[in-house]
Amino acid sequence: MLAALRPSPASLIADGTVGGGGHAAALLKASAPTGRLVGCDRDGQAVETAKALLSEFRGRFEIRQGNFAGMAEWIEPGSCDGLVLDLGLSSAQLDLPERGFSFQQDGPLDMRMDGRQELTAAKLLNEAGADELAEILWRNGGVEQSRRLARDIVCRRQSQPWERTRQLAELMERISPRAGSKTHPATKVFQALRMAVNDEIGSLQRGLEAAMRILKPGGRLAVISFHSVEDRVVKEFGRRLSRDYESPGAVDVPELRRPRPPRLRWVWRKALTPGEAELRDNPRSRSAQCRVMEKLRTT
Ligand SMILES: C[S@@+](CC[C@H](N)C(=O)[O-])C[C@H]1O[C@@H](n2cnc3c(N)ncnc32)[C@H](O)[C@@H]1O
Repeated sequence: MLAALRPSPASLIADGTVGGGGHAAALLKASAPTGRLVGCDRDGQAVETAKALLSEFRGRFEIRQGNFAGMAEWIEPGSCDGLVLDLGLSSAQLDLPERGFSFQQDGPLDMRMDGRQELTAAKLLNEAGADELAEILWRNGGVEQSRRLARDIVCRRQSQPWERTRQLAELMERISPRAGSKTHPATKVFQALRMAVNDEIGSLQRGLEAAMRILKPGGRLAVISFHSVEDRVVKEFGRRLSRDYESPGAVDVPELRRPRPPRLRWVWRKALTPGEAELRDNPRSRSAQCRVMEKLRTT
């Protein structure tokens, strides 16, 4: 992240996913004594923890609770030299059973990153129709037999409402036993639900647009994603904005292309993935991919 964003004493860096404050602390340290950081996280607990952790940098950062999709509403347009989006969940969220993100420990089916939000995983499982659930499971998690599973979910809630993570993990263990696979059968289902509860793909799309507004020309955007659905959104965004033409409509028809200057360039051709040492220190980084882009002109 430091190599990608090149923090300096003159820089203003934005962190849209402050989480435990690890990136923020490293960026503030590397931009001492005068570099500044603005940041947010949807999770109020994370914001409080990060503020405490960063107290030694007091006066050089401002962090608030909020979705990075709304960053351009409070961060000045064209003001940032860099922005980091480190997507998904933090270990603190995953490891607390009461947040409901983990199928390994029993907890309420909550899964909200922002506790002020009304929609929880339980509400979704108890109220959504089978077609909507199937679509969520397939689109966000590539869950096999998503239609059958969605029907099972709807059928079971008639006798017992969905309340606990254990109920869902057990259903998955029963209907698709592991059969030698290293991953738990509930992994993709939990991922798909969590993404729907938090509108993660919609937030990412809006966040990438917001990034183009708050970055200076020459400012850099680094995005770490943890699965192919979100990485595809980042890759598509980068591809579209780094082209020297735009296509009207959803399909790119070469004859209809209109030339225009590219809005960004890729800093690294390929996604950066963790090396052996990082994998040893932090096994949860195993599926991480980091893509870095640079904004080219004022938009
Ligand atoms: C992988 S962790 C970030 C860890 C952080 N970079 C660190 O160094 O400790 C992801 C964090 O992003 C937050 N998050 C995910 N989507 C978000 C969004 N759309 N807006 C704001 N925060 C978000 C989560 O609440 C979580 O705390």
